[in-house]
Amino acid sequence: MPPGFLIVLDGIDGTGKSTHARRLGNWLTSRGRDVILSCEPTDGPWGAKLRESAATGRLSPDDELLYFLNDRRQHVEEIIAPSLAAGKVVVLDRYYFSTMAYQGARGFNPTEIRRLNEAFAPVPDLLLILDLEVDTALARIGSRGDTANAFEKRENLERCRTIFLSLSNEPFTRIIDSNGTQDEVAALIRQAAQEWGAAPGYDAHDGRTAVK
Ligand code: TYD
Repeated sequence: MPPGFLIVLDGIDGTGKSTHARRLGNWLTSRGRDVILSCEPTDGPWGAKLRESAATGRLSPDDELLYFLNDRRQHVEEIIAPSLAAGKVVVLDRYYFSTMAYQGARGFNPTEIRRLNEAFAPVPDLLLILDLEVDTALARIGSRGDTANAFEKRENLERCRTIFLSLSNEPFTRIIDSNGTQDEVAALIRQAAQEWGAAPGYDAHDGRTAVK
């Protein structure tokens, strides 16, 4: 049985994490790996409360942090840890780096958030940070960011991006410049996954195989 492998795609809103998590999952499956694709916040009870709060008004900073931690603890116990133990490749769309960034932007210390998470959540083998300028990311999600609220959102995302980029020197991190076409970015991601050993057998031509 091959060892389990944990790959995380993270970054600010609008960088294409969900699309690329799906494409990476399909490609790894085509390379013969057993893949579990999952995301945070999850569809579990804590994730549902968090999504609800996006519509009804944000929770207090303390409650929000607690709910994300509870959601992740359940995710680790029920999906992430058992899948890794079974030798699967787990591809996650967001993980505790989002908590460092978004709850960090709300005032918590990112280093402390990381410590709280790493007490129960496995450190990934590969963290892909999909990176774009905030204005480019906002344009992609259809927001011009020129109203008062959106301005706040832009400021907030700038803080989040800075925290994500502060992880660039970690040995497991690869920053993915997400300005290219979807196919170009997918090729960068596949190359990183292969170099890190997520898929068997390195083939220099693989970046060009048309797996959607
Ligand atoms: P998102 O990935 O946009 O979910 P969906 O596509 O289902 O709406 O995540 C929702 C928001 O949650 C996003 O703005 C980032 C935020 N978030 C945090 O603030 N902390 C976290 O730990 C996570 C995982 C997400």
